[in-house]
Amino acid sequence: DGDVVRRERFSGGPARSFMSSLAADERIFAADVAVDRAHVVMLDERDVIDRTDAAAILEALADVEAAGHVALPDGEDVHAAIETAVIERVGERGGRMHTARSRNDEVATCIRYRLRADVLDAVEATIEAREALAEVAERHAETVMPGFTHLQPAQPTTVGHYLASYGSALARDTERLLDAYGRVNRSPLGAAAFAGTPFDIDRERTAELLGFEGLVENSMDAVSARDFLVETTAAVAALSTTLSGLAEDLVVFSNRGYVELDDAYASTSSIMPQKKNPDTMELVRGTAGDAAAGLNALLSILKGLPRAYNRDLQRAHPHAFEAVDAVREATTVAAGAVATAEWDDSSLSAAASTGFSTATGVADLLAMSGIPFRTAHETVALAAESLEGERDASATYAALDAAAEETLGEPLETHVDRETVEAALDPEESVASRNSVGGPALSAVDAADAH
Ligand code: ARG
Repeated sequence: DGDVVRRERFSGGPARSFMSSLAADERIFAADVAVDRAHVVMLDERDVIDRTDAAAILEALADVEAAGHVALPDGEDVHAAIETAVIERVGERGGRMHTARSRNDEVATCIRYRLRADVLDAVEATIEAREALAEVAERHAETVMPGFTHLQPAQPTTVGHYLASYGSALARDTERLLDAYGRVNRSPLGAAAFAGTPFDIDRERTAELLGFEGLVENSMDAVSARDFLVETTAAVAALSTTLSGLAEDLVVFSNRGYVELDDAYASTSSIMPQKKNPDTMELVRGTAGDAAAGLNALLSILKGLPRAYNRDLQRAHPHAFEAVDAVREATTVAAGAVATAEWDDSSLSAAASTGFSTATGVADLLAMSGIPFRTAHETVALAAESLEGERDASATYAALDAAAEETLGEPLETHVDRETVEAALDPEESVASRNSVGGPALSAVDAADAH
């Protein structure tokens, strides 16, 4: 029997398990059943196969689906195993299911079908995270904190302004995922191996049954294209990178006592009983490394692949699935940590007053009085240098005054009155003064909310 001989020749032999994707294909098991169903319904509607055969196949598919992926017979992949399972149930006519298609268009359709749902889950997680951040930001719209550049105290801002900055970044991450989604959501089904089919199929119909918005039309492109994996994983990597910055901040801020994570988001040491470690945030930070590596793996696999289908592709999509799973979880955990963390208002405000972080505000004030900004900067820099850790307002004022004598040849009061300078030295006043568009002043934050 030629058929049996052929099956043996292509059984894989010692490379069988190396070739098989059956275990990893659990991810697309339900997708494959859905794709099989849509294809069989279309074949029946177009009279490519007969109604009774279609009905028998659909019934078998329901049974295979109920038994689940674990119950599948051995096979090179989920597509072959489901077909075998259908044939086991309804006999040889089950083989009609594979009319006018190939595993090449089948697998591409399954990946898109499944990834679509995963991308939407990730989008949902980003929206929930933005809501959580916005809620805490609103509660802390006037909680003054030090802002940093180079991790050095730079200028006072508010916890609300700080958290809203991540809200804005997450909004772009959401957009990128949705943008990728639009191109994931196209049907390659009906491309067959790559060269189409002589059967009278209806590609629009299977696309519609599977909820796709249109086709990946060119049949060679349809089976080859994996750029939808690249852009989805890139969007995921960007989101992971955003989250990693937030996570790093929370590690640093909890180290400095500005914020305390809820116990549910911290861990302890097995030996040091006093420890409360920000482990969840470190793990969130770590997922950005995995996502970047996954994107790199994908691009490396796809680079230079010839048209049309090559088995390398089997190793591509798991990277996208892994990355999207990790980011969904990381997004939810980061949001939960922010939602439940306690910000320490008094240590934040004390920190905002140290390190002469209102220096820029004083320089701005001098510049507003007509002194060129560079000269104003130099004056305040001179004062900062002479202050050397001394913090109180009158010492600061005296230092500024002495500096003004040096750079301007005049006392400070010639340009700005003392009260105004002292107000600028106050972190709260400093924040309130910075009401430019997008700035931390409450009026600017309220205006941004209204948009
Ligand atoms: N398991 C394969 C994959 O994931 C399915 C397609 C196999 N097609 C083929 N011509 N060998 O890519």
